[in-house]
Amino acid sequence: MRTAIITGASRGLGLELARTLVAAGWHVIADARSGVTEPGVTAVTGDITDAAHRETLVDRATSLDLLINNAGTLGPSPLPAVSEVPLDALRDVYETNVVAPLGLIQLALPKLRDSGGILINITSDAAPEGYPGWGAYGSSKSALEGLSRVLAVEEEKVTVWQVDPGDLRTRMHQDAYPGEDISDRPLPETVAPALLKLLDERPPSGRYRLPEWS
Ligand SMILES: NC(=O)c1ccc[n+]([C@@H]2O[C@H](COP(=O)([O-])OP(=O)(O)OC[C@H]3O[C@@H](n4cnc5c(N)ncnc54)[C@H](OP(=O)(O)O)[C@@H]3O)[C@@H](O)[C@H]2O)c1
Repeated sequence: MRTAIITGASRGLGLELARTLVAAGWHVIADARSGVTEPGVTAVTGDITDAAHRETLVDRATSLDLLINNAGTLGPSPLPAVSEVPLDALRDVYETNVVAPLGLIQLALPKLRDSGGILINITSDAAPEGYPGWGAYGSSKSALEGLSRVLAVEEEKVTVWQVDPGDLRTRMHQDAYPGEDISDRPLPETVAPALLKLLDERPPSGRYRLPEWS
């Protein structure tokens, strides 16, 4: 049985990715600060910015075929202009969206090298694009993409994908548009099955948009 670690699987995209992999027969180990109650998932409650929690998460996998860095934070809502971003909030966003995923990657790499596994870092169109208000979050995803590109050439035995899921109707998306109707955005369950197609076809390291694999 193949094993995956998915961060941030209490709701939203992470929960749907976990469901998709469990249904496909994977052993899924998943975390969130509020816990993960999805049947069939090995839940490890904790905060990915906590180094001890990251070690616990990776220790639960005797072997590892797939790591999905999905947990993320938007930062302050409503979204502030770059000129107004509180520096402590920027540090928090980078800690969750860049430093913690890299910490997990460093712990998981030996197991991913052993299995010839796959690393997925969930990114956003706010990484390559400059949208007003999206400076803190977007630049954190740019940094995550930069790390992914370098890992892809450094790690010969591991396939590294930056995966952009597209706009999704989740709590994070609602926080980005407080008070607005986001019911026209697709639900995460519409794109999560595309993960299986990606895994089946196994394209080379690079950046992929989930809607294009649906
Ligand atoms: N929604 C979109 O339109 C969209 C578009 C592009 C990219 N994305 C990306 O997709 C990923 C998932 O986003 P989403 O929209 O599903 O957001 P979401 O509904 O807010 O879910 C975020 C998940 O991450 C967990 N999480 C947050 N901080 C954590 C931490 N410090 N430690 C452990 N778990 C943590 C949350 O659980 P707890 O709060 O219980 O910890 C939750 O399970 C993110 O990387 C996001 O940047 C989303």
